[in-house]
Amino acid sequence: MCGIVAYVGPKDAAPFLLEGLQRLEYRGYDSAGVVVSNKGLKMRKVKGRVADLAAAVPARFKGTLGIGHTRWATHGAPSDVNAHPHLSTDERIAVVHNGIIENADELRAKLEADGVVFVSETDTEVLSHLIGRTVKETDSLEEAVRMALKRVVGTYGIAVIDAQRPGEVVVARNGSPIVLGIGEKEMFAASDVAALVRYTRQVVHLEDGELAVLKADGFHTFASDARETAKEPLTVDWEAGHYDTGGYEHYLLKEISEQPDTVARTLRGRLDDRFHIAHLGGLNMDARESRSFRRVKIIGCGSAYYSGQIGAQLIEELARIPADAEPASEFRYRSPVVEPDTLYVAISQSGETYDTLAAVQELKRKGGRVLGIVNTVGSAIARECDGGVYLHAGPEVSVASTKAFTSTAVAFALLALHLGRVRDLSPADGRRICEGLRRLPGQIKEILALEPQIKELARKYAHSPSMMFVGRVRGYPVAREGAQKLKEISYVHAEAYPASELKHGPLALIGPEMPTVAIVPDDELLDKNLTTLGEIRARGGQVLMVGHRTADPKLADDCVVLPKNEVELDPILMSIPLQIFAYHAAVALERDVDKPRNLAKSVTVE
Ligand code: AGP
Repeated sequence: MCGIVAYVGPKDAAPFLLEGLQRLEYRGYDSAGVVVSNKGLKMRKVKGRVADLAAAVPARFKGTLGIGHTRWATHGAPSDVNAHPHLSTDERIAVVHNGIIENADELRAKLEADGVVFVSETDTEVLSHLIGRTVKETDSLEEAVRMALKRVVGTYGIAVIDAQRPGEVVVARNGSPIVLGIGEKEMFAASDVAALVRYTRQVVHLEDGELAVLKADGFHTFASDARETAKEPLTVDWEAGHYDTGGYEHYLLKEISEQPDTVARTLRGRLDDRFHIAHLGGLNMDARESRSFRRVKIIGCGSAYYSGQIGAQLIEELARIPADAEPASEFRYRSPVVEPDTLYVAISQSGETYDTLAAVQELKRKGGRVLGIVNTVGSAIARECDGGVYLHAGPEVSVASTKAFTSTAVAFALLALHLGRVRDLSPADGRRICEGLRRLPGQIKEILALEPQIKELARKYAHSPSMMFVGRVRGYPVAREGAQKLKEISYVHAEAYPASELKHGPLALIGPEMPTVAIVPDDELLDKNLTTLGEIRARGGQVLMVGHRTADPKLADDCVVLPKNEVELDPILMSIPLQIFAYHAAVALERDVDKPRNLAKSVTVE
């Protein structure tokens, strides 16, 4: 999705703006631009990469105030002209914008009727003209932005500068994140802390409806009615090094390889060996309240939703509370019945996914109790929830989620243990799960050591036109996530089905052209799964089995044999070989592994 950076201070803005935009590249974009103010606005924008923009910026591009943008096209094709920033007609005002202005056509028609000539097809240009006209009347950039935003319907994160006010940036947020960075006599802003951490760890997140005026010596924030708001800066513990590839060829491989550590961090300090319980202080619930829920409803999008399906099973198995997961993007639109004795859990790596945020806001409006399982500290979803569990997995840069997925599943195991032990889960079972959780980091290392074998298998199957992923009960969300990983980064079509459903339809697809990845844990459903493998092989389908033992060659062409944990925790481990498989399939097919086509890391629009 689009990215925003802004700077005001004593130094030249361009180096920060370009470096900041480069840090935001992982979010996905198609064009980029910067503008600085120095006796008038100087602007460069290009279709293409931030490196192309940097090459287009002349050596003398001086100015101590500036804003920059990476654009992910919504209104108008990717092009130099449609790239942000956008200027007012007199080139006094420059605007960068993330989000979508829903009434842009109507506002554009009115402005055109007043004689304004538009140069781009974007919705954003409406804003630069509205602000440009108002600033002449009010002589206040802050007021001009406020008045323009009152006329706008939709979502935005914006940064605005005025050539006649060389010491001031105005930013505002409604549905699209804006984070302020506090420096030494300099101020930064960005749509993502990734752009800020090399410069400052002191940040302030704007709330929806808030506007901020940044000057070199500080900032002021205001609510939509212009009342000044008080904000406490937050210290982020993510470092610039977290955003480097660390010697790996791709971020994705780095993040897959980090999982022994990231899982250990999600567990750190949360397991109690005396009572075999999980300490989750952030839930903000005492034991009595934790006992009071009769149902758990989990929401998230994409891989977050699949990790929620693993979570729902963990909660049902360990706490014996009915639980299910649903895509947040569907949940928010179907006017859900919100029950007082249901615990709602929202999952998000970024904490900014618009559909999930909107679902949480809908739940809150209806009085629902919502916990967040979130990776990004201080993000919008984390702030909106009543409590929750931070993953502590560090920033995830590659578009495809890996370490956040496993850490979310681990966080659910902790939540299930907590809810179970205040109900009927016995101390012995609590101890079994605690011990199983402690074994995970070491077992993940064992799985990572299988990479050479999985790489060969990925090369063997990568050229298949389509692949089927199957699993039963605990294995089904693993199969769904495996198919999701493969399709999003390798572009190989992949379907996921419950193994039990194959003969109710999809078996018709099985043949030599459609290999199957089968999730076959050594659990009470082993025999049923082996029968399914036989049915696939009988139809000429190849089978790659991921399980805990080598299968009869009559049932599987290839087997990846994994270390065994407690049956409830097996799905966490079983998702990792599928990540490695998808990664090497994508590499074999020469895909843009970290930035797959058409996708963005965090989806901050509807
Ligand atoms: C994961 O590989 C995907 N890129 C995507 O499905 C992602 O999980 C989803 O968009 C939710 O993102 P979030 O966790 O940041 O909310």
